[in-house]
Amino acid sequence: MTPHDANGLDIDAALAAMTLEEKASLSLGSDFWHTAAVERVGVPSVMLADGPHGLRKQPEGGDHVGLGGSVPATCFPTAAALGSSWDADLVRRVGEALGRDARVERVSVLLGPGINIKRSPLCGRNFEYLSEDPLLSGVLGAAMVDGVQSQGIGTSLKHYAANNQETDRLRVSADVDERPLREIYLAGFEHVVTRAQPWTVMCAYNRVNGTYASQHRWLLTAVLRDEWGFRGLVVSDWGAVADRVAALAAGLDLEMPPNLGVSDAALVAAVRSGELDEAALDTSVRRVLELVARAQPALADPGEVDVEAHHDLARQAARESAVLLKNEGVALPLSLGAGQTLAVVGEMARTPRYQGAGSSQVVPTRLDAALHQLEALVPDGVTVRFAPGHELGSAEPDDALVAEAVQAVRGADAVVVLLGLPAEEESEGFDRTHMDLPADQTALLAAVAEAATAPVVVVLSNGSAVRVSDWEHHADALLECWLPGQAGGGAIADLLLGLASPSGRLAETLPLRLEDNPSYLSFPGDSGHVRYGEGVFVGYRGYDARDQAVSYPFGHGLSYTTFAYGGLALEVLGSVEAGDLRVVVRCTVANTGERSGAEVVQVYVRDPECSVARPVRELKGFVKARLAPGESALVDVELDQRAFAYWSTTVHGWVVEGGAFEIVVGSSSRDLRLTGTVDITAPTRRAPISTTSTLEEWLADPAARAALASLFADQAGQVGGFLAEGDLVKVIGNFPMDRLAAFPGFGLDRATLDRLAAGLRQH
Ligand code: BGC
Repeated sequence: MTPHDANGLDIDAALAAMTLEEKASLSLGSDFWHTAAVERVGVPSVMLADGPHGLRKQPEGGDHVGLGGSVPATCFPTAAALGSSWDADLVRRVGEALGRDARVERVSVLLGPGINIKRSPLCGRNFEYLSEDPLLSGVLGAAMVDGVQSQGIGTSLKHYAANNQETDRLRVSADVDERPLREIYLAGFEHVVTRAQPWTVMCAYNRVNGTYASQHRWLLTAVLRDEWGFRGLVVSDWGAVADRVAALAAGLDLEMPPNLGVSDAALVAAVRSGELDEAALDTSVRRVLELVARAQPALADPGEVDVEAHHDLARQAARESAVLLKNEGVALPLSLGAGQTLAVVGEMARTPRYQGAGSSQVVPTRLDAALHQLEALVPDGVTVRFAPGHELGSAEPDDALVAEAVQAVRGADAVVVLLGLPAEEESEGFDRTHMDLPADQTALLAAVAEAATAPVVVVLSNGSAVRVSDWEHHADALLECWLPGQAGGGAIADLLLGLASPSGRLAETLPLRLEDNPSYLSFPGDSGHVRYGEGVFVGYRGYDARDQAVSYPFGHGLSYTTFAYGGLALEVLGSVEAGDLRVVVRCTVANTGERSGAEVVQVYVRDPECSVARPVRELKGFVKARLAPGESALVDVELDQRAFAYWSTTVHGWVVEGGAFEIVVGSSSRDLRLTGTVDITAPTRRAPISTTSTLEEWLADPAARAALASLFADQAGQVGGFLAEGDLVKVIGNFPMDRLAAFPGFGLDRATLDRLAAGLRQH
């Protein structure tokens, strides 16, 4: 896009021709979903709409909080489900479909993906987020952005940053140390921005370390633009702006929805008074104009949507996202023949729970219920018996419904029970207070399991993780489907009947109980602050560091077939010194069973010795390999330098400490199949030596050590003074040098220390 011919909009000319008031008007929307137009200079408005798993375009003149009805659109599986697919190619295709849905409706920016880290299972919006791991969130987030944007439609990467809870979300300060902020909470955003350049980034509602994300200069400009090279526009979350002038100065380009007559007037007044440099306003307005220009080709050619094809894709995506947690006695797939009976229990079999509530709620083009899909797909001559078993939204067991369900499963040849979280328990706007299924549902399961003679298969529909440890003994098989979108019912039928093999993997750990979660003691905070006390030990990083038993580990998921791993080969390319280190991890994976299936080969890196506390192992690469029975494939995963680095709070940068690193290839974070070691050479990066560095730090630095040694050399050239006394050096090693220099008779006075330190600085 050249500035003078930006899809029919001459950005330079428009900017030069606009009055201050017109420019101010462009830095906020004109209504809930549109940017402002400036007709006098030929600037049209464009529309933004939610996001992220389906288009939520409100008809003209929608309600005042933006949460009312919307035009029908394909409701794809929610992010909790898509995250469990571990399939970037699939997510890209879903993104393309979302882009087409937006394009045909003349929506220019889809407000997603949401890639905040699932810090706690209680976060009310976990269904809208991908994972507890930043690499998985980043890779799938980038795929979604690529897919949507390939259709000429923009995305909004959200919510930047550290928006990991709903409690007090418009004010709470997420107090996060520098290292977890970089390694866990920003890493996914960095990945998406640097690899996929979303058209827009949406700032979060909350404060980060005391400052509103909407006016956080370090986040919005220093990191996002100066470090990561973001070239798009920053939009506020809806209502996130507390001070429009401060927000603009920090790098927030577009306020949504607009605080009309207030924010624009404040910007004009601030420029007039000299408080705000007009150049800063121009920069933001230019970004709005660039967005408007980018949107024009799709608006001129909205294309068409094949609603059926999108529904089929939604079904495939739901299938790929379901996680088979357990399958004792090969309860699945169901094998049924003529004359046999399948008992289906649970209200969710006919009233699907398929998406979450709040700004992402889509009006689906169609909705498939598992019950009807099973009825349609079971072999001829199979009878399907249904009993709802409970009432949605009631926690008290209904004896009559339970008795009916017990009757339905008696003598049945297969028993499927659909359970899940009721819609009112998880939504944008509030967090959960526990992670249990409703008591009436677990009581129903216990009763049904006692009466059943066939294996009991439980199918779960929930957007955030539920505790399974206290009831899963009633289930022989457990299929976690998350909130699988409008075609989830068909996907459930496909998987239960073996028309496809499950291939999803957990994108978050299922703990034995909520109290085990690393954030438990500091979620959701109080008095306006939430302290991210677990540091980098989020999710599996925390469970593994404490070697805690869990119900199902990160990365876990079974298949109807089995896989064998072999032939691990590691190749080190480039170097840390040159900044281009890469390690190619190669292995073979073979389908050793009798059905087609897909294995997610996961590569974890472990740094056994490091000067900072690091997680036991961290996911650094993965590949989903689809294999026919007997087929094997060579899998290649390339790790870059970052895969070995931690964020150093002394040098304020990424540091790879040289030495041996373990590369572990696994089928989950706790099912490790192959291990190898690479030796990595890296220059030592230490904070510069100063007068307040400790004796230990001086001795660890070759130049500083030499300076001290020559100062304390006796006539024979031997090290003398206190340096000769090894035990003493050990005891006083953690003293800063300026304190030691103040000790009477120490042999090193302050002036000498200053001279040595100055010499080292010039070094
Ligand atoms: C949500 C965003 C959403 C926006 C517009 C906000 O309340 O946090 O995710 O895109 O509303 O609906």
